[in-house]
Parts: sequence; structure tokens; C-alpha cells
Amino acid sequence: MRKKYVAGNWKMNLTLADAKALVQGIAAGMPANAGVDVAVFPPFVLLHPLAAVIGGSIQLGAQNCHYEASGAFTGEIAPQMLLDVGCKSVIIGHSERRHIFGETEELLKKKVMAALKVGLKVIYCVGEKLDEREAGQTEAVLHRQIHKVLGADVPLDEVTIAYEPVWAIGTGKTASPQQAQDAHAYIRGQIGKLYNAKAAEAVRIQYGGSVKASNARELLGQPDVDGALVGGASLKADEFLGIIKGAQPA
Ligand code: 13P
Repeated sequence: MRKKYVAGNWKMNLTLADAKALVQGIAAGMPANAGVDVAVFPPFVLLHPLAAVIGGSIQLGAQNCHYEASGAFTGEIAPQMLLDVGCKSVIIGHSERRHIFGETEELLKKKVMAALKVGLKVIYCVGEKLDEREAGQTEAVLHRQIHKVLGADVPLDEVTIAYEPVWAIGTGKTASPQQAQDAHAYIRGQIGKLYNAKAAEAVRIQYGGSVKASNARELLGQPDVDGALVGGASLKADEFLGIIKGAQPA
């Protein structure tokens, strides 16, 4: 059985005071022995101060990193720096990085390799845009995003995949449980081809895109949906806790 994994991607939100209150609120409401992995991904500048207040049941991660270990890369953050301030994982390939900041699969592969090399876990995001879905290209897009970045040279043990259809992010338009399941099953099938059946069975695939407390249980009840990568609803302790509860084993 794959353990469910609920992650909050805070994106470019919250002040330090609000962020501290949020993690304290989540920690206070966390069900004992939740049976769910939980992590939050605050903006870079909040990582170090939050590491000091975050409880043991909530892991800390970053939303992005650079692929070089150090050097003249003004404005960038190296994977080792994230580890150094208490991060356990990093999100790579979020659709906002791909589509607003022009990150390519070639670049994302370097980032994934660099993060894993220093011992960070990775959430690798994939997902099609609305026009791609409407043109019947969903599987072709997912195929490219998976095969160009993952593969035999990328150990999969510390990688979680997040399927985030771009048309469902921040729009209130959630993929139906069946649409999510179909995409997740396709992704798992590709992992089977790229690695082997054991790796496909073990890899966790989160769904992301307008997940909230009210739709979490149904989405996360699909056989190939192993958790959620949550944006807007992860900024409110009650909503995020509701999603964690929706992910708990029945
Ligand atoms: P929303 O939950 O706000 O739709 O965002 C999803 C997302 O992009 C998480 O990474």
C-alpha cells in the first residue's frame, strides 16, 4: 500500500508572521498517527525561520532550486542550501515554472538530478494545458514530460510525481475523479515502461489542481491517486487539515 502524501505549495504568498501561524495551526490540528505524509513548501525566505517552529509531523520543502552547487548565479538557490536550512524536499517542474519562467525539460532534468544528488526528495510536476487536452494531446504531453526528465539515470526512490492539469490550477475547475485516475494510470504505466513493474507500483502520484477539503476524499479515493499537491487551500489551516483528513485511510 502506498502511503498518501499531502503537500502544500504556498507559491508566492504569506508574511513570516502569517506563515508561522499557519504551520502552528496545521500542527495543532494534525490527527495523531495520521497515516499520511504531510509537507509544506513555503517561499525561500520563510524556510529557515519556519524550520525552527515546524513540528516533526510536517516536513519542509522548497518550491524550486538551481542545478549548480554554487557560483555566479545571481538570485538563485542551490540544492545544498535548502538542505542546510532544514528542507527535506523540493518541487521541480511546476507548471508556473514551465509556462511563466520558460523552464524546459532539459533544464528540469538537471534540477532533478542535482536535488537528488544532495539527498533532497523531489516532487516532479507534470500536466497538460487546456488547449493540449482539447486537442487530444494529454497523453503525448505527459509522455514527453516523463520520458525527457526521468529514466534509468534518475533513481526513482525519492521522487514523487504530481499530476497537475494546468487548466485546473487556481481556476476552481477540478479534474473529475475519473479524469485524474485516467491520467495517473497512464503515468504509472509509463513509469513501468521506463523502469519496471515494481517501480511503477511503488511510485506515488499526487493530484494537483483546485483540491479542497470538500473534494479531497473522492479524488484521493481513486486507485492511482496517492495524495495531493495543494495550492490555494494549503494557505488555510482548516482547509489543509480537511484535505489531510480526506487522505487518511478509511
Ligand atoms: P490550486 O490548488 O490553487 O489550484 O494550485 C494547485 C497547484 O498548483 C499546486 O502546486
